Amino acid sequence: MGKDGSSNAMWGGRFSAGPDAIMEAINASIGYDKRLSDQDIAGSKAHAAMLAAQGIITQADAEAITDGLSRVKAEIDAGEFQFSAALEDIHMNVEARLRELIGAAAGRLHTARSRNDQVATDFRLWVRDQCDAAMQGLEALQRALLDQAEAGADWVMPGFTHLQTAQPVTWGHHMMAYVEMFARDASRFRDARARMNECPLGAAALAGTGFAIDRHATAAALGFDKPMDNSLDAVSDRDFALEFLSSAAICSVHLSRLSEELVIWSSAQFRFVTLSDRFSTGSSIMPQKKNPDAAELIRAKIGRVTGALVALLTVMKGLPLAYSKDMQEDKEQVFDAADTLMLALAAMTGMISDLTANRASLEAAASAGFSTATDLADWLVREAGLPFRDAHHVTGALVAKAEAQGVDLPDLTLDEMQAVHGDITDDVFGVLGVHKSVASRTSYGGTAPAQVRARITDWRERLS
Ligand code: ARG
Repeated sequence: MGKDGSSNAMWGGRFSAGPDAIMEAINASIGYDKRLSDQDIAGSKAHAAMLAAQGIITQADAEAITDGLSRVKAEIDAGEFQFSAALEDIHMNVEARLRELIGAAAGRLHTARSRNDQVATDFRLWVRDQCDAAMQGLEALQRALLDQAEAGADWVMPGFTHLQTAQPVTWGHHMMAYVEMFARDASRFRDARARMNECPLGAAALAGTGFAIDRHATAAALGFDKPMDNSLDAVSDRDFALEFLSSAAICSVHLSRLSEELVIWSSAQFRFVTLSDRFSTGSSIMPQKKNPDAAELIRAKIGRVTGALVALLTVMKGLPLAYSKDMQEDKEQVFDAADTLMLALAAMTGMISDLTANRASLEAAASAGFSTATDLADWLVREAGLPFRDAHHVTGALVAKAEAQGVDLPDLTLDEMQAVHGDITDDVFGVLGVHKSVASRTSYGGTAPAQVRARITDWRERLS
């Protein structure tokens, strides 16, 4: 290339910039890893304090470094910091500014440390915070679902399999199914957080260091349970990010499934729910429309989260120990996935809190589609002593009869029923209503309002 840095005939192509600029563009991470500035500065302060306590640097230098780092943080917080791509990443940007502010002492900060253990520490701290944020977001969503469940603990609605009416269930039961799903999500973040809470700092480049550092002190200062036990593992591990992403991906899938239900339920064909104006939009051409955009966008955005998991798994899968620059590609995926997840959780919480369930539509739909056919079959087993297979067959004949007459099961007369099976008595009408159906399902975890209320009480206690 020419000394002016102009495009080179061999590799220039569409790049008007010279190789230095191309290298900077592919190499620099400051454009995104500036989000790690708080963690980077906290890690550096812990490291400097430990170096001084161990007599590796003087107390005066440690104080100068700590004060200088506070000033750097203030500049970043105020939006006054000049980030430089030439300085590659957040670590070198902070250190370079520290040198401008405090002079030579800044050069002692990197004693017994490498960017490899530094970035591993910063990123763990960041992901750890995101686990906490996800757990908080999930708890808020669970509370919104609990409120909905409580309000409609005994409201009947169709329960579906294959999206075909199966048996009546309660609205409260349906809401509580999601409380369970989001509880498992929260526990995955909790597990991931507990496992990632070990400190890589002091692993240095990969082999540890000859300086008499105290890794237990820095680990404790940063809120970690202990230092990581193997320096090679410490700088090359990104399991914590993968576990965060897989927890986020599963959680996102749950959010997407609930979104899908909201889209279906809010349609004119279902009218099970009315979404608030705050989480819907109108159409620019069709005045009657109210679109469930927030639900649709949550459903769509989860691709970014599941995509991030696959992307980082792919980054990591071929890497020999220990650090490789490939690992710099961990951050954008995790940042985007975390942002997407937090936004989706907030939007879903808002939608659920604001949602109006239409009790009458739910109940009308619950009775349609012969939803109490199983109750009839169960009655034939219990009261008429039929084997379940025979009861299933008799019920099928009764459903066909009702369907042919265009009526629901409870609308058949006793005579019409007895024409199909002589042992049927008047008593059968006692199980055919949707309310009786749900009230009878009292097995643990079943849809009976009594069961649903018991689970709501359990969860209120657990979340308090
Ligand atoms: N920006 C780098 C990253 O995110 C920091 C570590 C650089 N280490 C190195 N040996 N070049 O991975």
